[in-house]
Amino acid sequence: MKLLVTGGAGFIGANYVQHVLATYPDDEIVTFDLLTYAGNLANLEPVLDNPRHRFVRGDIADRAAVTAALGDGVDAIVNFAAESHVDRSIADAGVFLTTNVVGTQVLLDAARAHGVGRFLQVSTDEVYGSLGPTGAFSEETPLAPNSPYAASKAAADLLVRAAHHTHGVPALITRCSNNYGPYQFPEKLIPLFVTNALADQPLPLYGDGRQVRDWIHVEDHCRGVDLVLRQGRVGEVYNLGGGNERENLEVAKLILDTLGKPRSLIRHVSDRLGHDRRYAIDARKIERELGWTPRREFARGLDDTIEWYRAHRAWWEAVKSGAYRDYYERTYGQRLVGAAGVEGDRT
Ligand code: NAD
Ligand code: TYD
Repeated sequence: MKLLVTGGAGFIGANYVQHVLATYPDDEIVTFDLLTYAGNLANLEPVLDNPRHRFVRGDIADRAAVTAALGDGVDAIVNFAAESHVDRSIADAGVFLTTNVVGTQVLLDAARAHGVGRFLQVSTDEVYGSLGPTGAFSEETPLAPNSPYAASKAAADLLVRAAHHTHGVPALITRCSNNYGPYQFPEKLIPLFVTNALADQPLPLYGDGRQVRDWIHVEDHCRGVDLVLRQGRVGEVYNLGGGNERENLEVAKLILDTLGKPRSLIRHVSDRLGHDRRYAIDARKIERELGWTPRREFARGLDDTIEWYRAHRAWWEAVKSGAYRDYYERTYGQRLVGAAGVEGDRT
């Protein structure tokens, strides 16, 4: 299978690209990524020299660039590309609409024009809104997004649905809970708290810290996305969750205890605007239809993730300082000029 993976230089996309290349010896991947602040070519370091992988820098909202990247055709598009951080969407929603909404429609149009065999939209449980103390989101739960980020992802989901219904685009949607694992940008809760703790910096906990998220290891998410891509029923939505509900305060304490750092590093700060209280996923559909269940137990997965950040201090220090943004230029200049591995406009 030949895949176009958008957003493949980000956290989940990079894990997915590595997973597919390692799992399917005949698969080929074109990674298409704009390299925004969240995209980092270093996340793809293990596969940059792989002859079955090609990196193209480009914007999913740019029709010409998407058409060029599709070249003489791909079997499937997996769309991870997005603006993904709720706090940034609260500060400025504009780019969320361009990338998450317009970009998705551009990809759907391109998939239709090129007769792409499968289109998988990587969505989020946040499209369902917030839960009270009980219950869980199923695929039938009405969409009720609360943040501009969640609203832009819900809009994209509806465009995917419409493309399937109207034009017969062979599209599928996954909606997953909060991911953690290697290569996550340290603006999200777990990598922010781990890297701050490693640097003896305070952990800014929003509000009372009693909000609940359902944490899933990124490997389990990637396996689920891949299963839906290859075996899911076209036109369907599949929820994925870790079955791991934790309060943010508990996660903060676990991180500090694991690292042997004092709990006094926790700082309660003013709450996020419109902060969703609780997310929980009912993943019975994908379990029943495709036999998927999450495998990584949270305590162990968190330990491994903390260890990864401890062992990759240079990676996150470069990200936090902004120095990682030179990586593309350095990599492009020194290793890949003239090679087939990297294309695209550097501007
Ligand atoms: P991320 O922010 O780490 O990575 C996003 C990637 O998309 C980056 O590499 C960025 O450069 C790229 N990108 C952004 N705008 C682009 C554009 N216009 N054109 C091309 N590339 C662009 O995000 P992530 O956490 O890896 O999330 C990936 C996807 O999974 C997103 O669609 C997100 O909504 C979804 N998701 C994330 C989570 C989570 O917990 N992180 C949970 C469920 C679903
Ligand atoms: P985040 O990782 O941003 O994911 P999402 O908002 O998509 O669920 O946040 C996870 C939870 O952690 C959420 O309830 C907000 C909270 N949080 C903090 O308390 N402090 C922080 O600095 C961040 C980034 C998040």
